[in-house]
Amino acid sequence: MSVRAVVDAKRSPPEKWLREQAEVLLRKIGIKKGQIVLDFGCGQGTYTILAARIVGNDGIVYALDQDKGKIDDLPAQSKSAGLANIQIVPTVGGANIELPDESVDVILLYDVLHSWYHPRGRQRKEILYELYRVLRADGLLSFYPGDPEVFDHHSELAAILTEIREANFCLQSKDAETLIHEGSIVQGHIFGFTKRTKHNNA
Ligand SMILES: C[S@@+](CC[C@H](N)C(=O)[O-])C[C@H]1O[C@@H](n2cnc3c(N)ncnc32)[C@H](O)[C@@H]1O
Repeated sequence: MSVRAVVDAKRSPPEKWLREQAEVLLRKIGIKKGQIVLDFGCGQGTYTILAARIVGNDGIVYALDQDKGKIDDLPAQSKSAGLANIQIVPTVGGANIELPDESVDVILLYDVLHSWYHPRGRQRKEILYELYRVLRADGLLSFYPGDPEVFDHHSELAAILTEIREANFCLQSKDAETLIHEGSIVQGHIFGFTKRTKHNNA
């Protein structure tokens, strides 16, 4: 964890952020009632639970993680939070996502697509092509770089942003935010991408 992250964690405990700011942030990035959200690499499901509260009973949050040890507690967590709209999507890792084409409104890709988990650009591209497949034509890919940004590997972040563009996504927004990263409150950037069309060819 960077010095900056430690300082921020002391200033602002995760509980306070979760209570007061988390939902505001997810609404700001574009999550709405009734939507279908995929939390790719959801870990223990911090963002899954937050998104599920917003989409409500008319929506679904698909939670997907290759680490069974992390995701196993999610059904119990969602039950104790009174949520019945979280569905676990089985995976053995890699790029495959067992969801139909264009079936998801918002993808959360938070602290997953970097060299810690995917050292080869080719692995990252396979994931991006699969995310492109499952995202609706007007859907949103919300990307938080996580470790490359937190640990100041700016060249890696630049390469990953290029890979996302090469996978036919178009950058719509980049916002400095306060968010939760591995249980600590940190400053980071959230990038919003849409599918590239002939109208937004940026
Ligand atoms: C650092 S955690 C982030 C968890 C969560 N997104 C968050 O921000 O709190 C990254 C997670 O991505 C998962 N992951 C990495 N690559 C994956 C893949 N190809 N398929 C499924 N899960 C993956 C890891 O198992 C890990 O739980």
